[in-house]
Amino acid sequence: MTDRSTAGHQGPGGDFMASLRRDHAGLSRVLREIDAQLTQLSEPSERARRVLVDALRYLLRYHHTFHHPREDRLFARIRRRDHALDQTLRGLSHEHETGERQAEELAAELAEIPARDLAGPRGQRLAERIRGYVGHTRIHMREEEAVFYGRAEAVLNATDWEEIMAADDGSQDPMSDLASLRAQYPDLADQLGLPVVHLGMVERTQPISDEMRLQMLALTDLYGGLLHDGLDLARSNLDCLLSVRGPGSLVRAFGQVSRANMRFAGQCLAEPSRWVVNSGAAMVVACLRPYLRGDEPSGDLPEGPAE
Ligand SMILES: [Fe+2]
Ligand SMILES: [Fe+2]
Repeated sequence: MTDRSTAGHQGPGGDFMASLRRDHAGLSRVLREIDAQLTQLSEPSERARRVLVDALRYLLRYHHTFHHPREDRLFARIRRRDHALDQTLRGLSHEHETGERQAEELAAELAEIPARDLAGPRGQRLAERIRGYVGHTRIHMREEEAVFYGRAEAVLNATDWEEIMAADDGSQDPMSDLASLRAQYPDLADQLGLPVVHLGMVERTQPISDEMRLQMLALTDLYGGLLHDGLDLARSNLDCLLSVRGPGSLVRAFGQVSRANMRFAGQCLAEPSRWVVNSGAAMVVACLRPYLRGDEPSGDLPEGPAE
């Protein structure tokens, strides 16, 4: 009992589940960007196509290659221990296969469609198919989170986790490493508003309104990430308190919960503050860049927040 009740939520099991949730936070962010780019796919600059090509490559190379196989191993183990979710988990694993095929087809079509067709019926059909893929992916993710937050993995024991972890190659989401993301997916990285984590290294040429939009998206992502971390914290605090068996363990549990809460409180203070500093720097750079580069500033240049 002890083995099973703790193994799922602390140590490798807890880390494994937290990494799946972090992947989902990154995936939500990319799906939102795909939605935004689809509205501009017909524009002659083809900027949207480049960002979408990067985004689909990212989904294929990370989510379909590493994230989904991790979930498949987890789901297979849960199904072995508890048949209650058999149908649901089998369905989710099946969607991993169909989703990958769909993403491959969409990436191929996006790469080969002639520029002149992007604004025509073929481009519109493609945009609709990509929208459909995004919609299904969001539903898939919500269903998984219902499983995760329903603590389905609590049925696993230490041996299950050891075997799940042993099969894992440790590949990390490139979204967690700015340099890696930028090296592999430069157009996507540019579009995601990276100055939030790259103070002083921004290279921006967009007008101020674009910069503002990027910073607002980054703020939404930041609070989305905090929400995920807050739910993880609530879960781990509850597990900790439920494991109390006497006065000694009660004192230890209070200490552990207090330390975790303090860490999270620090995170809640530090991350929005860092956003304020970084976005302020990015906005100033966006306003001054044309002057610093000696370009002819456009008539509608800096207004508002940079002053
Ligand atoms: Fe999945
Ligand atoms: Fe997932």
